[in-house]
Amino acid sequence: MEKTLVIIKPDGVERGLVGEIISRYEKKGLKIGAAKLLIADEEILSRHYQEHKGKDYYNKLINYMTEGPIMAMVLEGENVIKIVRNMNGHKDPSIARPGTIRGDFSYSLTRNIVHASDSEDSSKREIKIWFPEYE
Ligand code: CDP
Ligand code: MG
Repeated sequence: MEKTLVIIKPDGVERGLVGEIISRYEKKGLKIGAAKLLIADEEILSRHYQEHKGKDYYNKLINYMTEGPIMAMVLEGENVIKIVRNMNGHKDPSIARPGTIRGDFSYSLTRNIVHASDSEDSSKREIKIWFPEYE
């Protein structure tokens, strides 16, 4: 079964959207394979966001991601990587469609509620970072 790494970012947790977001994934029929609430440190985030190092938004992104607890999870299902990316919506609030998580709950390019892996390679890499014990 395909797997993807999802993170409900600090604004999603702080705003009390964890239940709403997980409920959407569950209603879609996706299975939660693992989940944990944690406060991420710079070390783990620099691995997670390694491809963004050097970008002008990188420091802003790391500050945002360390400002409070996040909920990391593994979701499982057929084509789950694409399905969750579609459910989350585009990072740019002027493109994110209503009905997507970002389209419904965010209007910021940085503070956009959720993360999801964008390919099979990144999902394998990211699951190892956040759930090293998970198989
Ligand atoms: O999260 P997604 O894969 O949709 O977008 P990304 O291009 O991989 O960027 C990762 C995260 O960096 C985004 O979700 C935003 O939180 C942040 N970002 C930003 O703050 N400003 C940008 N210009 C691009 C991304
Ligand atoms: Mg990305």
